[in-house]
Amino acid sequence: MAVNKQSVTVQEPGSVPGERTLSFSVNGRWQKVNATPTTRLVTILREELQLTGTKISCEIGRCGACSVWMDGELINSCLTLAYQVEGREITTIEGVGTLDKLDPVQEAFLQEGGFQCGYCTPGMIMAVKALVKERPDPSEEEVEEALAGNLCRCTGYTGIHRAVQRVVKDLS
Ligand code: FES
Ligand code: FES
Repeated sequence: MAVNKQSVTVQEPGSVPGERTLSFSVNGRWQKVNATPTTRLVTILREELQLTGTKISCEIGRCGACSVWMDGELINSCLTLAYQVEGREITTIEGVGTLDKLDPVQEAFLQEGGFQCGYCTPGMIMAVKALVKERPDPSEEEVEEALAGNLCRCTGYTGIHRAVQRVVKDLS
């Protein structure tokens, strides 16, 4: 993803001990944020950058609600600390599709009813996008494995799996 270094968010130097300025890209925009090295990425995204599409639930790497990409790899942003994102490229759900033109994975979730409350959906979509990027025609086992870190309390997963199948069919 191209990085637009013209768009910069700068905050005043922090008053918190140990805080320092981090520079990294979020959805193609270069950002500067003051944070302590151990501030979690999900906190920076949600509270400093107001990118609240990334959800937080378990906070221990079990549910996948906080899934984002770092340099194109799926990660749990609740387990990623500020010092780890320096100079990296982060992609959140806000960087996937637009209201006018949904990403094909978002469209598939919409068409197949791959959500109910929607709380898990941003993380699910980031996980499915990561899967089909690596495996455009995944086996059922590969789908199960890819989504094993993303929990949904509502859907029973049937609609989610239908959405994955639709994406795979559309890609083929
Ligand atoms: S909030 Fe990060 S994995 Fe659950
Ligand atoms: S749609 Fe509610 S948790 Fe998945």
